[in-house]
Amino acid sequence: MRDADEVKVSISSEADVVTAREAGRQMASEIGLNGSLPTLIATAISEVSRNIIQYAGKGEIILRPLHQSLKTGIMIIARDKGPGIADVEQAMKDGYTTGRGLGLGLPGTRRLMDEFEIVSKKGKGTTVTMKKWM
Ligand SMILES: Nc1ncnc2c1ncn2[C@@H]1O[C@H](COP(=O)(O)OP(=O)(O)O)[C@@H](O)[C@H]1O
Ligand SMILES: [Mg+2]
Repeated sequence: MRDADEVKVSISSEADVVTAREAGRQMASEIGLNGSLPTLIATAISEVSRNIIQYAGKGEIILRPLHQSLKTGIMIIARDKGPGIADVEQAMKDGYTTGRGLGLGLPGTRRLMDEFEIVSKKGKGTTVTMKKWM
């Protein structure tokens, strides 16, 4: 059952980032994503989880296995009720940062994934939804 398979991790500390990335790595291997894919999934989860901590303080990661007729994959949702991103297009550019990072987290993560979407409203929060298919 899809709901029973879903994993939710609250994110408010570096330890939670580790929990989320390892849960992602495990789910990826369990559903048969092989080779470097589990590590790629873990990397993507780390980036969006760290953004939650740095820019929103807290939030959550939801991991969901995807089983479609012809393909298998994983969906990662990172969401928070933090300050939101005023200009998402700008935030997706290589090197753009309002913090002390490299500004490569979001654009780099988009390149790792097959599907990537950000919905963010200033003052309301941010939701990043991404998918990786086998
Ligand atoms: N969850 C979030 N809430 C608010 N702002 C965010 C969030 N995630 C990213 N941002 C904004 O987008 C910018 C780019 O993020 P990213 O590409 O990960 O680079 P970095 O984290 O190195 O700054 C951040 O500097 C920040 O301004
Ligand atoms: Mg970042």
